[in-house]
Parts: sequence; structure tokens; C-alpha cells
Amino acid sequence: MSLKQKTRELLKRREQVQLGGGEKAIEKQKAIGKLTARERILSLLDPDSFHEYDMFVAHEARDFGMETKILHGDGVITGTGTIYGAPICIYAQDFTVAGGSLGLMHARKITKIMDHALKMRVPLIGINDSGGARIQEGVNSLAGYGEIFFRNTLSSGVIPQLSVILGPCAGGAVYSPALTDFVFVVENISKMFITGPEVIKTVLGEEISMEELGGAKVHSEITGNAHFFAKSEMECFEQIKKLITYIPWNNGQKARPFPPKEPKSEYKIDKIVPSDASQPYDVRDVIRSIADDSDFFEVMTDFARNIVIGFGRINGETVGFVANQPLVLAGVLDCDSSDKAARFIRYCNAFNVPLVTLEDLPGYLPGVDQEHAGVIRHGAKILYAYSEATVPKITVILRKAYGGGYIAMNSRHLRADFVFAWPSAEIAVMGPEGAANIIFRKEIMEAENPDEMRKIKVEEYKEKFANPYVAAAKGYIDTVIEPSETRNLLIHAIDVSKNKNDGRPKKKHGIPPF
Ligand code: HXC
Repeated sequence: MSLKQKTRELLKRREQVQLGGGEKAIEKQKAIGKLTARERILSLLDPDSFHEYDMFVAHEARDFGMETKILHGDGVITGTGTIYGAPICIYAQDFTVAGGSLGLMHARKITKIMDHALKMRVPLIGINDSGGARIQEGVNSLAGYGEIFFRNTLSSGVIPQLSVILGPCAGGAVYSPALTDFVFVVENISKMFITGPEVIKTVLGEEISMEELGGAKVHSEITGNAHFFAKSEMECFEQIKKLITYIPWNNGQKARPFPPKEPKSEYKIDKIVPSDASQPYDVRDVIRSIADDSDFFEVMTDFARNIVIGFGRINGETVGFVANQPLVLAGVLDCDSSDKAARFIRYCNAFNVPLVTLEDLPGYLPGVDQEHAGVIRHGAKILYAYSEATVPKITVILRKAYGGGYIAMNSRHLRADFVFAWPSAEIAVMGPEGAANIIFRKEIMEAENPDEMRKIKVEEYKEKFANPYVAAAKGYIDTVIEPSETRNLLIHAIDVSKNKNDGRPKKKHGIPPF
């Protein structure tokens, strides 16, 4: 055969593989509103940037009729490409081929691209759309998952790992996304659960749909397994692209800087926070009044809404914002919000992203439910994460900083580099009402008009403690600033922290309150 003929044969083989599970299976995929694995990769990556590897890999299973089955690409497409010029490694399970089920060679293709991503120090994106362990391949499939989980853990904190759930992700398969940094889900398409509706019906006699059990909303609002929710696959890809612009390629780099931009004039920083400490407001407006172009890319928008986390830029540099949200539960810390913040803080620390904390909270949420849900263990995570973090850490106290909340939200005592307070800051062991009721109980009870006396005592307490000056006098905060000075001071603080070098004792690793 001449080279020309051989090349023609190659093209024919390629064409066959690119058809995946065939036209009928593709039609079925499309009928339920899903893109094919190949379309997904091409929609996500820069045009003409995708290069596929291991296209001709074939399975070696010999049981249950598998010996005669041809599974193109063994149900997964792997390769490299770019997103806005940033190199990435990617795999996408192809549901049209044996339901995207994971057999030995399928797993080897994934682990090979994972090894490549780690070696090249570039982000890894995994698109999940699979019936789980390939039943005909038995323990080989289970081994495949184990190899993936090990690599997820090895790469954790070295390269960004993104999981996109675009179909079923069932059984043990869910643990690879759970081990990665960010999980993306799409309404009506993503289904994630350990035990499916059939098992639940058999074991518990309860009927539940896949959507109700582990649909996109469930994981965005209730479980906290998902970080980004989208209404369509294309919207999801836009979210991934945007995230890639905010994060570095690996832990040895910083995120790429952007040209600095002033916040939009509609966000007026000194008009957002009400002076009455019991009045709510949306802390995201404060973030928007500080961030470049007022652009705030929120993470986990609908889970534990009493804390807000996400990326923005200050003077062109990516920062991670962590902010109490007075709109929801007055911004208290509880089990879920502590988990949410702690993981994000650890992400930022691992990937050299400075942390900006905006504080306004009455403390940890009291109650039997929280105590029994383990608020001690979960609440400790945020203390651990801030204490452990060595990236530049800056706190701005907007209003309330009471009790454990004051300490937990990146206080000087957990080694904040800079703590700024607005004149509206109230730094105290607890709120004035609670404090007055305890320490002036006798006077209030014995007064002719207890309500009047309570008011007087609350004012007395506020005067003495509910202000930033007692903490400023001790040097626990560095300076009291006007709200309008915040952005400039943050720019300066980040600038002077560029060469921060904050040593920690050498150890194998700590024992965080997982
Ligand atoms: C082999 C599978 C498969 C699997 C699907 N297929 N799942 N083949 N192993 N796990 C095949 C089907 O036989 C079918 O092949 C094709 O994929 C499409 O599947 P359908 O059932 O027709 O699709 P659909 O109706 O959309 O249903 C999707 C599904 C269902 C809900 C995912 O297929 C399903 O329940 N699959 C089994 C899920 C499961 O229990 N997996 C094992 C989990 S345990 P044909 O040839 O007919 O087109 C696990 C352990 C991992 O994963 C532990 C790691 C630690």
C-alpha cells in the first residue's frame, strides 16, 4: 500500500471511531437534550485546539459476549487543547458507547491523561456521562476507579481538577468528582448518586425519581457537592471558561493578571451597609464595589447562602473573596457555611490566590440541631483553613464581629496580614442586647422600668465595646478606615504582600477536622 492509500485508511478508521456508538445511539443522546462527548469537547475548547489521543484503544474483555463487541474509543475521548490559550488535559465519557461505562481500558485512557496533566502541570477537566462500572468487566472496572481516585488525590493542590457532570454519574463513580476542586452540574441533565432509585425502592421501599434524588438542583442547593449550576450545557462551558481565567495552571504559578479596571460607579461602597446592625444587605454589592469592573464570579451560589465565596480581581490580580452574608441568617457561621468557606480557603491557599475576607456576623448559629450536626467539628474547619493558609490574608470588618465569629473570620490571631475595620465595626464577645441581659441582669430586673433600664444598659455597652476602637487600641486591627478607602488599601495590602514568606513548622501533614 502506498502512503496515500494508508493515509486514506487512517482517515476511514478515524471517521468510524468518531461516530462513537453509532447514529441511533447519538439520536437517543440528542433526544434527551444532551450534546455528544465530542461536541462537548469542541464547544468547550478554543477552536481547532483539540488533539485526541488513544482513539484506537480497544477493550480486552472476553466475558458475557464482550469478545465480539467493538466499543469505539472504549467509551471515552481523551486529549489536550486550550481554553483562552491556557493548556488543559481533558476527557469526556461517551454515553453512546456502552453507556460510557468504565472498563479497564476506558480507565487506562483516563489515568493516562491524568498522569499527563500532572506531569505537564496543567488543569484537568473530566466530563462524566456514564452508567458506572462496566458490569461485564467485574473487578477490572473497580480497579480502574481506584486508580482514578488515587490520581485525583495525588494531583489535589498541584493542578486544578474540574469535574463536569453531564449525564448519570452513579455508584462509586461519584467519588472522582467529589475528590476534585470544582463540580459543574446542568439542570435536567446531571444525575449524581451513590445508590439509585431502584436500590432505594428495593431496600427502603421508597419511590424517588433520579432528579429528586441527585439532580443538579439537589447538589447545588442541598448537598453542596456541586459548585456551579447551569441551565444548559453551553452555559456550563461558559462557566468553565470563566473559571479558567481566574485560576493558575498549577500551584507553582499565579493566575494570569488582567488589565486593572475600576469598579462600576453604580456600586457605592458607603451606601450599602445600613448603620443599624440589625438591618440586612447583600454583601455581594460590597464585593462588587471593590472588585475590578464590579465582576464577582461566585462559587456555590445556592448552598449555605449565609456565606459568600468566589473570585474577583483587584487591580488586575485574582483574589478569593470570603464574606458573611447578612441577607441570610444574619450571616452566621454554621456547619455548611464553615465547610463551604474552609474548602475554598484551602483552594486559594494551594493555588496562590490572596484571600480577602469581609466580616459581618453575629457568631456561630446556636441550637440543638447545629450542635448535634457537629458544628464543633465543622466550625473548626474554618479556623484550621485560615490558620493554615500562608497566602496574603486581608480582613475588612464591615459591621458585626462577635464572639467566635470574630476569631474565625481571619482575625489577626489566626495570622491575618492586615485587618481593617470600618467605623461601623462592632467587635465584642457578643451582641449588645445579649451582653447587657447577662452582665446587667440584676440592675435590669430590679429597675422600676426594666425595658427602659435594658435600653440604657445596651447603649452603655455599645458605647464601651461595640466599636472598633477597643480592638484598635490593642493592635488587633491595624487601622480604622472610611469605606471609600477600602479598595485602595486592599490594592496596597496585596501589593506589599507580593513577597510574603510565612514559614510553618515542617510536618508530614496536619490532621484537619475533616
Ligand atoms: C455495562 C452499561 C452500564 C454498565 C449502561 N450500560 N450502564 N453497560 N455496564 N454499568 C449500557 C446499557 O446496557 C445499554 O447498552 C447502554 O449502556 C445504554 O444504557 P441504557 O440503560 O439503555 O440507558 P438509559 O435508559 O439512559 O439508562 C442509563 C442508566 C442505566 C440509568 C445509567 O443504564 C443504568 O442504570 N445503568 C447501570 C447503572 C449501575 O448500576 N452501574 C453500576 C454502578 S456500581 P446497549 O447495548 O443496550 O445500548 C459502580 C461501582 C463503582 O459504579 C465503584 C467504584 C468504587
